[in-house]
Amino acid sequence: MNGIILCRSKYGASAKYAHWLSEETGFKVIDTKKADIKDVEKYDTIILGGGVYASAIAGIGFLKKNIGALKGKRIFVYCCGLAPHSGEVMDILKKKNLGGELADIPLFYCRGSWNMDALGFSDKAMIKLYIKMLEKKDPAELKEYDRPMLEVKDKKVDWTDKKNLDPLLKLIRAEGE
Ligand SMILES: Cc1cc2nc3c(=O)[nH]c(=O)nc-3n(C[C@H](O)[C@H](O)[C@H](O)COP(=O)(O)O)c2cc1C
Repeated sequence: MNGIILCRSKYGASAKYAHWLSEETGFKVIDTKKADIKDVEKYDTIILGGGVYASAIAGIGFLKKNIGALKGKRIFVYCCGLAPHSGEVMDILKKKNLGGELADIPLFYCRGSWNMDALGFSDKAMIKLYIKMLEKKDPAELKEYDRPMLEVKDKKVDWTDKKNLDPLLKLIRAEGE
């Protein structure tokens, strides 16, 4: 089995999962931003992982742009957000990120981490505005997807857990046999 892990992580959670995946599979990890399709297309298995920012999976554009060159490859996507895993979260993420030719790619969710103090300047400003907007809403109207942000806003939390990769690793191994 040969493969590669492409990862885009701003705050470290997706990178941590990429490292664990690399330990388990022996695949090398590269930053999706630096990925060259001429190199990536040499591999049979491609795992793309990234943080979730405003429901968008970091680096998913690489797959959208290059899906034609990757026909017939085994492709898997994982993403890390702060929301707990749920059917609603998966539906939103699939709809936003895996439309059209990407619709058949399996998507896995590995909960990430949160630390308001560590956010970059523009991320912090955006998140603070978003939280203000959520706080003005009637709590009964809030979506399941929005509640976790309000619950953790000023806390520092790390939900990363190697076990979250089990379903993805199981599929990679099953299909590699
Ligand atoms: C600007 C911004 C937007 C975010 N939007 C979402 C979101 O829509 N859904 C979610 O579950 N988490 C969201 N998060 C939380 C991140 O997905 C979480 O911190 C994750 O660990 C980021 O991955 P990384 O550590 O690999 O960068 C957001 C974080 C930031 C900074």
